[in-house]
Amino acid sequence: MAIFTLEKNNGIALVTMDTPDSPQNVLSEASQSEYESILADIRNDNSLKGMVFASGKKDVFLAGADISIFQTIETQEQAYESSKLLHGMLQQVADLPITTVAAINGVCLGGGLELSLVFDYRVASDSKSTRIGVPEVQLGLLPGGGGTTRLPRVVPLPDALDMMLTGRQLSASRAKKIGLVDEVVASSILLDVAHNYVAKGKPNRKSGFKDRLMRMSPVRQFVISQARKKVMSQTKGKYPAPLKILDTVNRGLAMSLDKALDLEAKGFGELLVTPESKQFVNIFFATTDLKKDTGVDSDATARPISNVGVLGAGLMGAGIGYVTVDKAKTTVRLKDISVEGLAKGMAYVGKLVDKKLNRRRIKPHQHQSIMARLTGSLDYRGFKNSDVVIEAVFEDLSLKQRMVADIEALSGNKETIFATNTSAIPIDDVAATAKHPERIVGMHYFSPVEKMPLLEVISGTKTADWVTATAVELGKKQGKTVIVVNDGPGFYTTRVLVPYNMEAVRLVLEGVAIQEIDNSLESFGMPVGPIKLMDEVGIDVGAHIVVTLNQAFGDRIPLIDGVDKVLADERMGKKNGKGFYDYSEDSKGKRVDQSIYSVIGVENPGRNELSRQVIIERVLFSMLNEAAYCLQEGILRSARDGDIGAIFGLGFPPFTGGPFRYMDSLGLTEVRAKLEGLHAEHGQRFKPAQLILDLAEQSKGFYS
Ligand code: COA
Repeated sequence: MAIFTLEKNNGIALVTMDTPDSPQNVLSEASQSEYESILADIRNDNSLKGMVFASGKKDVFLAGADISIFQTIETQEQAYESSKLLHGMLQQVADLPITTVAAINGVCLGGGLELSLVFDYRVASDSKSTRIGVPEVQLGLLPGGGGTTRLPRVVPLPDALDMMLTGRQLSASRAKKIGLVDEVVASSILLDVAHNYVAKGKPNRKSGFKDRLMRMSPVRQFVISQARKKVMSQTKGKYPAPLKILDTVNRGLAMSLDKALDLEAKGFGELLVTPESKQFVNIFFATTDLKKDTGVDSDATARPISNVGVLGAGLMGAGIGYVTVDKAKTTVRLKDISVEGLAKGMAYVGKLVDKKLNRRRIKPHQHQSIMARLTGSLDYRGFKNSDVVIEAVFEDLSLKQRMVADIEALSGNKETIFATNTSAIPIDDVAATAKHPERIVGMHYFSPVEKMPLLEVISGTKTADWVTATAVELGKKQGKTVIVVNDGPGFYTTRVLVPYNMEAVRLVLEGVAIQEIDNSLESFGMPVGPIKLMDEVGIDVGAHIVVTLNQAFGDRIPLIDGVDKVLADERMGKKNGKGFYDYSEDSKGKRVDQSIYSVIGVENPGRNELSRQVIIERVLFSMLNEAAYCLQEGILRSARDGDIGAIFGLGFPPFTGGPFRYMDSLGLTEVRAKLEGLHAEHGQRFKPAQLILDLAEQSKGFYS
C-alpha cells in the first residue's frame, strides 16, 4: 500500500500522506522514492496551477524524520548526507512553479514543520491535536531539514530561537500569532480553505525575509547573545545542541539560503554523532516503550476509573487532585482533617486552573468543567464510590493502616484500590493489616506533582496485577511517565538518593566545603547539588529514610551522626527556613549558612580540598552502585526503568542516558575498578553490587 496518494481536480493536485499500518507519518527512506515520483508527476503536469499537501491521519500531519534511522548512522559524513538528502527532497516543493499549500491537521513536528516551510502557504486546523514545533533539541540535534535557516526567515528571530532552543510545540493559534501559519480554521473545512489559497497565487517574498531588521548584524548579534546567555545559565554549557543551533542560525542568516543549508547539514552531522544525542534518542525510545507498558508481565488489564478519592489536601494531595481533574479528566473527592487545610488545597488547584485560563490554554467553559470535577470534604462522605483512593498524608505507618481500614469498611463490595503516596514506607507494611492486601499499591509522586514528570508505582508482594495495571493507567492519564518497581525499603528513587546524599554529608564532615560539593555535582550535570537537595526535600524526611535503609542494609548504608546534629538544631531545610543553606532575606537559600559547620562539629570548613573529580566519584558512585543493587534484587524490572526513573524523578543528567547507560558508557570493567578502589579505601558502603562484578567479568553492559 502506498504512503502518498495523488488526486487531481480542477487543476489542483491533492497529495495525501497516510503511512499504512502505522499511527504516525514520518519521513523515511520508504517514503522518499514515492514522494519523488509524485512530485515528478506534478512537475510534469502543465495543467496544474496548485498543490495542496495534507495528511490522511486524524491527529498527525507529519512527526518528522524517522528517528530510528538516526540509530543506524555512524559517521558525521553519513549524517551530513542524510540532512542534504532531506534538503533536496524539500527543495523540490520549493522549486515548483505552481502555488503550494500545506494543510496542517495534527502533530507537525521537526521535518513536518520544515516541509511545510517550503510551501507558499500554511493553513492549520484549530484541532487540539495540532501542535507545531521543532523538537530536535530534545534529541540533542538541530533541525536539519532547513529549520535553522527557513524558520527565522518566516517568523521573528526571537520566536524562532525559542522554538528551536526549547522544542516548544505551538498550538495553531499561537503559530498564527507569530506568522508561522497564514490561517487557522476548523478541521472540517481545512481542505476547502487550503484549496482556496491556490487562487491567491504565489506570494511575492523576494528575499524570503519577513523580519528584515533581524538580518542586520548588530540586531541579530544582540538577540543571539541574549539567547546564548540564557542557554549557558540553564545548561552550564553541558548540552552541545542549543549552542550549535545558535551558531548555525547566526552564521546562516548572513549567508545565501544554499550556503546556510550546507552549514546546517554540517552542524547536524556533528551533533548526530555526539554521545549526548545518542543518549537522547535512547531516552525517546525508552519513554515511547513505557507509554505502551502496562506495568505487569501478565495480561491483566486496567479497570476503568471514574472517581478518585484523595486523602490529605497538602501540597502533594492538592497536586495529585489537580493532575487528576485536569489531565485525567476524572472526578476527585479531596479530604482533609481541617477546614483550613482543605480550603488551601482546593485553592491550590483553583490557582493552577486559573493560570491556564489566564494564559489562554483553556476557555472559560473548560475552566468550569475542570473545577466542577473537584469536590472537598472533611469526612469520608463521597468516598464510597471511589475506584481508587490515594492517600497523601504524613509518613506514618499506623495512620496509613488506619486509612486502609476506613476505606475497606466504606467500600463494601466495591473493589476499591488503595494507593499510598509514600516515598519510603514498604507497601507490604501498609498492607499488613488490610483485609484485601491485593488492592494496595504504591503511587510515589514527586513534588511539585503538577511539574514533575515521573510516577513510581510500587507493587507489593500481594498486589494484584490488575491493581498495578490500573495505577499505571491512571498515572499515564495524569500525564506521567510511569515506572513500576517492586516493593522494598526506599523502592528505587528514594533508595538510590540516600547513599548519594549521605556520601555528600560525609564529605562535609571530612572538612570539604558544602558549596564545593554542590558545585561539583552540578558541574557533572545534576540540577542541584546533593546538600542543597537535602534542604529542598526536607532534612527530617531524609533522616527518617536513612534509618529505614540502615535497618535493611546494615553497614552498606550506615548512619551518620552529623544528620542528627542538624535535626537537633531544628534545621529541616527550606520548609522551616533553616538548613545547610541560609534562608534569610538577603541570601534566600543562595549562600551556605556558615553556622552549620559548628552545629555538626566541623572545624576549619573547606580545609579538605579534594578535587572535583574525587568529590563527584564518591558521591555519584554511591548512587550508581545502589542502582545496580536495585536491579540485581529485582526492585527494578529493567535498566530502562532505572534510567528513566533517575532522569525524570531525580534530575540525573539526561545527556548521560541515566545511571545504567552512563555505567555502560564508562564500561563495566572501569566501574568495577572504581568501586573496588573506593571499597578498599572507605569500606563496606562501596561494596560493589554482584551484578556489576558479573557483567564486568563477562565483558558485558546492562544493555548489551
Ligand atoms: N520517528 C520514528 N518513530 C516515531 C517518530 C519519529 N519521528 N515519531 C513517533 N514515532 C513512533 C514511536 O516510536 C511509536 O512507535 P511504536 O508504536 O512502534 O513504539 C509510534 O510512533 C507512536 O508514538 P507515540 O510517541 O507512542 O505516540 P504519541 O501519540 O504519544 O506521540 C508524537 C506522538 C509524534 C508527539 C511523539 O511520538 C513524538 O514526539 N515524536 C517525536 C517527534 C520528533 O522529535 N520529531 C523530530 C524528529 S528529528
